[in-house]
Amino acid sequence: MNSDVILETRNLTKVYRDFWGRPKVLALKALDLQVRRGEIFGLLGPNGSGKTTTIKLLLGLLFPTEGEAFLMGEPATNVAKNERIGYLPEESYLYKFLNAEETLHFYGRLFKLDNAERKKRVDQLIDMVGLSAAKHRQIREYSKGMQRRIGLAQALINDPELILLDEPTSGLDPIGTSEIKDRIRELKDRGKTVVLSGHLLADMQDICDRIAILHRGELKELGKVRDLLTVQDVTQIKTRDLPEAAVAEIEAVIRRHGGELLAVDHPTTTLEELFLRIVRDSELHPGRRRVGDRPGMPADGDGDGSAAATPAGKAS
Ligand SMILES: Nc1ncnc2c1ncn2[C@@H]1O[C@H](COP(=O)(O)OP(=O)(O)OP(=O)(O)O)[C@@H](O)[C@H]1O
Ligand SMILES: [Mg+2]
Repeated sequence: MNSDVILETRNLTKVYRDFWGRPKVLALKALDLQVRRGEIFGLLGPNGSGKTTTIKLLLGLLFPTEGEAFLMGEPATNVAKNERIGYLPEESYLYKFLNAEETLHFYGRLFKLDNAERKKRVDQLIDMVGLSAAKHRQIREYSKGMQRRIGLAQALINDPELILLDEPTSGLDPIGTSEIKDRIRELKDRGKTVVLSGHLLADMQDICDRIAILHRGELKELGKVRDLLTVQDVTQIKTRDLPEAAVAEIEAVIRRHGGELLAVDHPTTTLEELFLRIVRDSELHPGRRRVGDRPGMPADGDGDGSAAATPAGKAS
């Protein structure tokens, strides 16, 4: 295996069997994949396409029907390698009656971290996932988003080189999602490799260097996000404050070269960007309303109120 490759699957196949051992579901079909050290790799696919199955096979939690996988040079079935891997399961298996701090100490002890190191990492991680204010509350009181955050912290307690995240942003609001995406980028900056699954296209597009698209257990597409999304035969030109006359001239030039002017328009932002901007703005200027911001109205006036941009608040 090339030393640049941290994870590789060859013909990896999983057939789930029923109680009688008869084949029931072909969940993963002959997957060939290579993930390079230091990249953020996305497993993208609709529900039931085999993402979780793939991750569990990589961890050796499931045994493949055919094929094999290697992580950091070790066979996936060797679970000892998991000490160098961080794993956020699809559903959290955390103890409900521990608080965030106790949870992380518990996992830190499993990895045999000494007291000082454990304390340092627990504090850092709680801060990193934004749970400082809630660290003494029991996990059973946590919202979905808070549980995802503590799950991520738990996955990082052993300072792993390779991190497998099964739908890290499920249940998170856009702010929480954007924070988790930032954390994942930071992990990459620190030289870690992250493999994550998901079906929220915009998030995957945002964060992944490369993606694999699975459908019904089959690999349908694999490549760099940018390459996959680039429309090769369309050229886009962006300008600011362009007068109408110039547009006409440009159109003439394009025609002269045998091209066709497809569209002249103003770009729109995504709903995600808009939402994030509104919430951040609102946190900076509490009480200010956009909808009621009409001339002659007091800034905090009642306005029509119904669609007022009240702070959505953080997910913590
Ligand atoms: N323990 C199991 N026994 C039988 N079939 C299973 C089992 N686990 C998963 N499957 C089947 O394998 C297929 C792939 O499931 P998997 O959980 O890997 O999908 P996924 O891509 O993670 O989906 P989701 O987006 O819903 O999490 C599905 O058809 C599912 O029903
Ligand atoms: Mg899944």
